[in-house]
Amino acid sequence: MRTVYWQDDSVRLIDQRGLPNRVVWLILGDEASVLVAIRDMAVRGAPAIGATAAFGLALAIRRASAAEPRALLDAARRSADALRAARPTAVNLAWGLDAVLRAIDADMQAGGSVASMRRAALRAAERLADADVEANRRMGTFGAQLLPDPCTVIHHCNTGALATVDYGTALGVVRAVHEAGRQVHVLVDETRPRLQGARLTAWELGQLGVPHTVIVDGAAGSFLQRGQVDAVLVGADRIAANGDTANKIGTYPLAVVAAANGVPFYVVAPTSTVDLALADGAGIPIELRDESEVLELAGQRVAPAGTRAANPAFDVTPHACITAFVTEVGVVRPPYPPALQSAVSAAASGQVPAVASQPTPGVAKP
Ligand code: MRU
Repeated sequence: MRTVYWQDDSVRLIDQRGLPNRVVWLILGDEASVLVAIRDMAVRGAPAIGATAAFGLALAIRRASAAEPRALLDAARRSADALRAARPTAVNLAWGLDAVLRAIDADMQAGGSVASMRRAALRAAERLADADVEANRRMGTFGAQLLPDPCTVIHHCNTGALATVDYGTALGVVRAVHEAGRQVHVLVDETRPRLQGARLTAWELGQLGVPHTVIVDGAAGSFLQRGQVDAVLVGADRIAANGDTANKIGTYPLAVVAAANGVPFYVVAPTSTVDLALADGAGIPIELRDESEVLELAGQRVAPAGTRAANPAFDVTPHACITAFVTEVGVVRPPYPPALQSAVSAAASGQVPAVASQPTPGVAKP
């Protein structure tokens, strides 16, 4: 079941804030409620945000009152700018919006009407959502080839069906391994402060029947040091041209400790997460979220009154700590600048290798 989809002129998605205790589906009928759902993290995870924003823009385009094509394009650009600002780090958000804008621009250039531009917008969003699921399944197959059997992996944040349209990225790899009948145990970083690991990843793994254990983020180093982990698997929100990678806060220390203990660190992400416009990670905008996420637990204040908190939602892992990227066009290894560039070009031109043709690389060491 897809976690984000379009039905009856509305965007439908699971409200991730209530999980695992309440499974509530939101029906969003205007662009303003889509924007709030992204900003307040009812929907989260880079690919899920990208697909939701694309559907949200298609919705805005269908509802816009513009009577002629040029006015509709201008209105769509304004809506896209508003949605773009909802969360700054995940580049998939801008990517999804730009795909819809390109589609209506092309339709207009080809002589299309307001009505045909509206249809083109929705088709583009649907295509993007379908492509996400396909990319995830491919990454699952490629990534599964990197892991031994049996294996124990550490996973940070949530990268499953909830964080995508379906199947997941890093958790998609775990799923592919499990579906192949191989043994995999996941050490689930709880992922402070919003507990995407303890709430969402543990919920998804439970549904899939994958053995897992939740650990506090600070325990990961100890498991790595004791030789109890075969690989670390994470997703990404933005990958710079040199491979520096923004992901959920806490990913960077995990990567450093993995490297110090000779454990492979894999980033599993579609090429839509690669931002070739940024030379390195220094230029990646890092979202700062509200202090209350750190100072409160389940609505209860835990720090003394008057205590301040800093709450950067993402950190940047230097490319040198990353053993390989798993993308929908295959496993990308250093040197990253040319390899990522080729992966993006291959995906853009549809030069996608058959998954079965990927050689089995075995377990790589950093
Ligand atoms: O703040 P979030 O929960 O949206 O952060 C999500 C992550 O950091 C994920 O690891 C990333 O988006 C990859 S999801 C496939």
